[in-house]
Amino acid sequence: MGELRLLLLGKPGAGKGTQSLRIAARAGIPAISTGELIRCAIAEGTELGRRFKDYTEKGKLVPDELILAMVEERLSESDCQRGFLLDGFPRTKPQAEALEAWLQERAMALTAAVSIVVPDHVLVERAAGRRYSPSSGRTYHVKYAPPQVSGKDDVTGEDLIQRDDDREEVVRARLEEYQKKTAMLADFYRVRSLLVEVDGVASPEDVERRIAEALQPVS
Ligand code: AP5
Repeated sequence: MGELRLLLLGKPGAGKGTQSLRIAARAGIPAISTGELIRCAIAEGTELGRRFKDYTEKGKLVPDELILAMVEERLSESDCQRGFLLDGFPRTKPQAEALEAWLQERAMALTAAVSIVVPDHVLVERAAGRRYSPSSGRTYHVKYAPPQVSGKDDVTGEDLIQRDDDREEVVRARLEEYQKKTAMLADFYRVRSLLVEVDGVASPEDVERRIAEALQPVS
């Protein structure tokens, strides 16, 4: 397998976080989730974290300039030299254009943009049942992906929590924001022949298999 530079597209709750950890582990590349970077900054209580919270708690996207500085810094770290998997970035056309320019300046290119496709009614149920380990970013679902011990992380045993933005009204706001600002990215990558669409309504194992199969021709 050559150098992989992947990104995952999909509505809130489509399974990006679940799949990104699996794909990245298999490929030996770092999974970079802008949602996770944001949640860490909020948990640390930094000035930037306080600014992020104003947006995330309403289900709104954080302004592009705040995200871009954070992502470019992360992509410049040494573990990204042999590839990376972006989860939740880009989310807007300016973010996609900035990523493209950043890669071009370094004579790099994306391998593929994988879009996980799931209908809205499934997404609301997935968000409602999601449980999350703040220190590792591992995600569970009370019904579809339960931890071995209820309420505890499988690896560390720490307590799982519910995300603040998983309340139903915030999930609906996130879906609207997606439709307005992010949905068009499928076309952005389709015209560049980078879009790989995968049906995300299946078990996490089956979705992982579908993604691996869909990536075989390009990886
Ligand atoms: P972010 O953390 O990226 O949230 P999101 O895109 O809304 O995605 P989620 O994390 O909700 O879902 P997911 O697709 O990762 O699904 P998961 O695998 O967890 O962003 C949060 C906020 O940060 C945004 O609202 C925004 O404010 C801000 N932000 C982040 N990036 C930004 C950017 N680039 N620009 C501006 N603002 C940004 O799965 C969901 C649930 O379903 C889990 O419980 C899981 O166990 C379960 N599940 C997963 N797969 C399956 C399956 N196949 N079958 C059954 N259940 C499943």
